[in-house]
Parts: sequence; structure tokens; C-alpha cells
Amino acid sequence: MINANNVALSYGKRVIFQDVTIKFTPGNCYGLIGANGAGKSTFLKILAGEIEPDRGEVSLGARERLAMLRQDHFAFDEETVLHTVIMGHARLYELMMEREAIYAKVDFTDEDGIRSGELEAEFGEMNGYEAESEAGTLLAGLGIGENLHHQKMKDLEGGEKVRVLLAQALFGNPDVLLLDEPTNNLDIDSITWLEHFLERFTNTVIIVSHDRYFLNQVCTHMADIDFGRVTVYVGNYDFWYEASQLVLQQKQNENKKVSTKAQELKDFIQRFSSNASKAKQATSRKKLLEKLTIEDMPVSSRKYPFIQFKASRSCGDNILEITELGKEVDGVSVLENFSLTVNKGEKIAFVGSTNSLAKSTLFAILAGDMAPDSGSFRWGVTMSTSYFPKENNAFFQDNTNLVEWLSRFTPVTEGESFARGFLGKMLFSGEEALKKTSVLSGGERVRCMLSRMMLSEANALILDEPTNHLDLESITALNNALIAFPEVVLFTSHDHQFVSSVANRIVEILPGGIIDQMMPFDEYLLDERVAKLRLELSA
Ligand SMILES: Nc1ncnc2c1ncn2[C@@H]1O[C@H](COP(=O)(O)OP(=O)(O)OP(=O)(O)O)[C@@H](O)[C@H]1O
Ligand SMILES: [Mg+2]
Repeated sequence: MINANNVALSYGKRVIFQDVTIKFTPGNCYGLIGANGAGKSTFLKILAGEIEPDRGEVSLGARERLAMLRQDHFAFDEETVLHTVIMGHARLYELMMEREAIYAKVDFTDEDGIRSGELEAEFGEMNGYEAESEAGTLLAGLGIGENLHHQKMKDLEGGEKVRVLLAQALFGNPDVLLLDEPTNNLDIDSITWLEHFLERFTNTVIIVSHDRYFLNQVCTHMADIDFGRVTVYVGNYDFWYEASQLVLQQKQNENKKVSTKAQELKDFIQRFSSNASKAKQATSRKKLLEKLTIEDMPVSSRKYPFIQFKASRSCGDNILEITELGKEVDGVSVLENFSLTVNKGEKIAFVGSTNSLAKSTLFAILAGDMAPDSGSFRWGVTMSTSYFPKENNAFFQDNTNLVEWLSRFTPVTEGESFARGFLGKMLFSGEEALKKTSVLSGGERVRCMLSRMMLSEANALILDEPTNHLDLESITALNNALIAFPEVVLFTSHDHQFVSSVANRIVEILPGGIIDQMMPFDEYLLDERVAKLRLELSA
């Protein structure tokens, strides 16, 4: 059980939370939702005791342990896989390290002997001797084999990394489990595994996610963050959506009633204020009118950013020719003999649930960020590219403010007001445009990366999972922008609707070769020849 009592937090003028009081009870799974930048990750960090609120407090049940999967997947890059998992139980890991240090000593003293006795007792009580095998079982469930146990986290692929971090959060059966966007970078099989895991988990779970399908599968309650408040609804996402639409409707009706009444009163006052016999009545109505307030009521702070891609020149006839590309990563072949000719007007979705590394590697090579081991590719002379990589940490290392950050990508002839205007359209207005890149939320970072892409005015856009981290409004805005873009797009996304509405060609990379079809995604999924080919090429 975990409680938040009168929690308040502001950054400068921005109120993130005002007086939030909630009780999260065991057995329930809470979906924490809200727009990008609403404060979801911040709220989890407050619950975990990582951020101290300005006012109020958080209380965890006596002797209870809390574990968290962070939205940022880089914190453990220097650790090995097995250690990372065990670190999920901080005390146990501490004991394990102290034990190892003591036994490694050359001059093992009597004191060390006593200390090691104490350590062994506590270690045993915490099931420390089974820690490695328990960690191994969790990892195996998530498809991480023993061959990776002693690798460093930074050498893992994005999808593997998040699965290890998930195992870390689940390790040692915490009483309160906080998961911040766990499905980002997770393949379908792992998402299904997680859904089953959470169904069986009887302690308290709080999950941040923008994935409606996932929320519906696992949540018993929704906690919606808006206007600095957190409102809890019983039911899953669809139920929340219906209920919140109903509340919106009611408020609108109420406001309509209030404004009709106000108009009647105004008319009355105007008609009779010059008439002496009615003057008294008119005055009292005036007072009434002053009391009537039309509740200033945006029921949701969710907003659409303005996304539009314009190419500075349109594509010629030769777009891209890829010939027999090959690439190994850490001694494992990820791309082999890959050939493709891309034509004018094509928007190609690279799909398939098990080969995200192949897709990311191909994109990095085409963007010039990585060299292939063999084969070649040639962009047409009219072509210019802009690349949106799956991991964007490298872009936000130096601590500038947003205006400075964006100015690196704006035309030299344009001044600060141009960058500010641009940021405003991407929902960073006023003081928000001056905040540091280090404090950005996951979705806010993606909005910055998309701004950079818009400013490039390239005619070939390469996007690797751009829908990760984005809220529904931003996904819709990006979706529409890519539909409207008349040039070339190469992309991947886990969002079904996004893929099916943008792509006119589908490429699936399989172990035995590729499937390449000029058709929309929905048709592709139903095509029997495709299904047969997939079986043949999967072997
Ligand atoms: N130290 C800070 N100073 C100023 N603003 C901050 C600071 N830390 C966070 N913020 C801002 O607080 C807001 C909430 O951030 P948070 O990461 O909690 O959002 P979120 O709801 O998790 O969004 P997302 O869905 O994009 O992950 C963001 O606008 C962020 O830029
Ligand atoms: Mg977040």
C-alpha cells in the first residue's frame, strides 16, 4: 500500500501538482495517464522518494519494498545484466557486494569473520542464495538467455535492455511496483508476457503508459493527471474515456445553462435600468449577474502540437538504391545481403516483431551514422535525409535551454524569435521555451527531435519508432503530418493505426530474406501469400 498526502510541487511558475491525495491499494493495477509533460514520471519519482515534493508526504506500508522501472533506460549502462537485475533489491545487492569484498580480502581478520557471519545470516533471510537463479528465471521468461548474463548493459540492444530493466523491477517480488512506459521498445511477445505477469501479481502496481490496448488489458483503475490534480476512476482505459467524455458533456451543458441565464439577465437589465419602477429589480439582477460565473473550463489540458514536414526541394526520379548490405553487431549478423530499390512517393513501413535491431541498423546505415561491413547504397542526387533515431540521449547531453538547442537547427538568417515561435507551435510557449534540455520529459524530447526534423526540410524522412513516448494528441498530429508529406518516408512503429494509415509499401525483414509488398498494412496482414512466405523465410 502506498499513499500520497497533500502533495504539491511546482517548477518556477509551473504548478505540476497541487494538493494531491491518493491511496493506492494492493491487488489493484493503476494506469497513470496524462499528456506529455503532465507530470507522470515526476509523480512516480515522488512516490519512490527520489523527488522531494514542496509540500505533503508519501507513506509506504511498514516493511514494504518499492521497485521502479524508469522511463530512461541508460542508468545502468556500466553494469552487467545479472547484477542489474539483482540491484532491483537494493539491500540484497548491498549485502552481496559486501560479502564478495570480504571474501576477496587477503588479510581476513577475526572481525571480518564476525562480520561475514552477520552478513550470511541476513543474506540467507533474504533468500540471497537463490538470487542468481531467481534472476535467471525472470530473464528467461523475458527471453534473455544465459549467454547475455555477464554482458554490460550498454552492449545490449534497446529491446533487450528494457527487458532486463523490467526483470530488475520485478526481482524479489516488491510490494509496490512502479512501471514508467514499460511497453516502449518491448516486442509483442514480451508485452504479452508482462500482461500475464501483471494479471497474477497481487501487490500494488502503478503503470504509466500511452498504449490504450495495454492499459485496457492490465488496469483495474485509471489515475488521470490534469491541471495539477490526479483523479482516480475505477475501470480500465475505455471506461475512463467514456466517463471523462460524460463529465465533459455535463460541464458543457451546465455552462450553456449559465450563459443563457446570464444573457437573459443582461437583457433584462438593459431594458429596465432606465425605468424607475423596475430599477430596483434591475439592480438586484445586476448583482445576481455578477455572481454567476461561467466556469473557465478547459476540461483537459491535452493539446495538439503543430507538425508539418515541408521539403526544400521535391524528389527526382532516383531515390535510393540499396545493394547487398551486410552488417554484424558484436559478432552477430544482423543484416545480410539486403537489397531494395526505393521509388518516388513511397512511404515504407519496416515491420515484423522480432527484428528491431535489423531495422535500426539499416536506418543508421542509410542515415550515414554507421558504416556497413559489405554492400553499398546510393541516394539520388536530389535527395536529402533527416533521421529520427530510436534512442535520442546523445542529443541532450549538454545542458542548454530549448531556444539555444533548437537554434542549432534553424536557418542562420533567423533570430531567436523564429526559434521561439517554432517552439510555441510545438507546445513550449513562454517560460517553457527557456527550460533546460536536461529536465525534458520523454514526450517533450520527442517533440524536440521532430522539430529538428521539420527544420531540416529534407525530402526523405527516416523515423525509428517515433510514436514511443508520445501522447495520443501528438501521435495524431505526427500521423497526419506524415500522411500529408508528399515525398519519401522510411519508418517503423508499434502503433498499428499509424502504420496502416501512412505506409503504401511494407517490408518485413526475416531470417531467410525479406517480404516486400506494395500494399497498405491491413491488406498485408490479411494476405495469404504473405503468410506463407513468412513461414518459409522464418525457418
Ligand atoms: N527540474 C525541473 N525544472 C523545470 N521543469 C521540470 C523539471 N523537471 C521536470 N520538469 C518539467 O515537468 C514536467 C513534467 O515532467 P514529467 O517527466 O513528469 O512528464 P511526463 O508526464 O512523464 O511526460 P511524458 O509523457 O512525456 O514522459 C515537464 O514539462 C518537464 O519538462
Ligand atoms: Mg514520463
